[in-house]
Amino acid sequence: MSGDADRRENGADNEEQIITPWEVSGKDGGKIDYDKLIDQFGCQKLDSSLVDRVEKLTGVPAHPFLRRGVFFAHREFDKILEAYEKGEKFYLYTGRGPSSEALHLGHLVPFMFTKYLQDVFQVPLVIQLTDDEKCMWKNLTVEESQRLARENAKDIIACGFDITKTFIFSDFNYVGGAFYQNMVRIAKCVTLNQVRGIFGFVGEDHIGKVSFPPVQAAPSFPTSFPHIFGKRKDTRCLIPCAIDQDPYFRMTRDVAPRLGYHKPALIESLFFPALQGESGKMSASDPNSAIYVTDSAKDIKNKIMKYAFSGGRDTVENHRKYGANLEVDVPVKYLSFFLENDAELANIKQEYGAGRMLTGEVKKRLIDVLSSMVERHRKARAAVTEEMVDAFMAIRPLNILG
Ligand code: TRP
Repeated sequence: MSGDADRRENGADNEEQIITPWEVSGKDGGKIDYDKLIDQFGCQKLDSSLVDRVEKLTGVPAHPFLRRGVFFAHREFDKILEAYEKGEKFYLYTGRGPSSEALHLGHLVPFMFTKYLQDVFQVPLVIQLTDDEKCMWKNLTVEESQRLARENAKDIIACGFDITKTFIFSDFNYVGGAFYQNMVRIAKCVTLNQVRGIFGFVGEDHIGKVSFPPVQAAPSFPTSFPHIFGKRKDTRCLIPCAIDQDPYFRMTRDVAPRLGYHKPALIESLFFPALQGESGKMSASDPNSAIYVTDSAKDIKNKIMKYAFSGGRDTVENHRKYGANLEVDVPVKYLSFFLENDAELANIKQEYGAGRMLTGEVKKRLIDVLSSMVERHRKARAAVTEEMVDAFMAIRPLNILG
């Protein structure tokens, strides 16, 4: 294989840190080395000049996730901006594997960011719910995966997407027709050896897994959505995602030119750390490792007080003397994601890092921020009706012009 997909340093080949769509763990259970990951995957660092360019182009301050490096890597995001500067629109594609009833805060990150991108660029968006993927990987029944997809769609809609520009689909319902034709075109370009290299599949894996990558690749091509783009092959696609999804799109980018499409561009995020610390992404299987959008204010308070890993020192005396270790402090990391006020964040880091502020005070501020965010989400989700879900998921034209 040539180009992007030639870089095979994924979990299967890398003894140090393991990052695949199914497994995220740092070297020796430690932190993820993101610079190294950029090297291994062969993507680019998203530097401040690109952030400035986005601000100039959109006329509004960049989203905190962009300003603070939560979205830290990309592939050809500059090309998307260049084309947009010339008046060429693109479309956004993101997705979710519906493996659990309730989303945790980490799950919201790509959707919050995608909502911002849709608002400032005024572009159409397709959201794939991979109920088939989770059925195959998580041992869920077809029916249960479908049910979870629809429940998760409500949480996604609650993030505030523009219904005139957003198409949400589940694979079990939508795959067929033009989408399936693209899957087959993609599948013909990729050998078994290549998917082994990219995803680390082994002989014991069932063949459903091997057949899945074209399903996640197909939405990168506009002709998979004839009700939105007609027969146009030249509309560019930008994919916001966590960096563990990169292997799918390395494969997609490799086949795109052979099928007459632009390579999809990517804008990729860090993992949202577990309450216990930054060695991987939050796990759906340990309820105390994450804050869920269904947690009550009391749950949030308990989890943060009890489990959020603190960089504060063992005694108040030492804390005053040495200050908190911000590198490992989870409350500060969470605030860096979700506290919108830049000046307040900078002040907390300074005071806490110098030992003038104590862990308890930082945690209290975090509890406030997260409780109101979760409460806002809860209200928005409660307002999502079954009819709205049907409307977002209806096969229909979108407003692709403005
Ligand atoms: N595989 C992703 C998951 O397990 C879901 C997904 C499908 C996705 N298409 C995507 C995520 C595009 C980001 C971008 O969550």
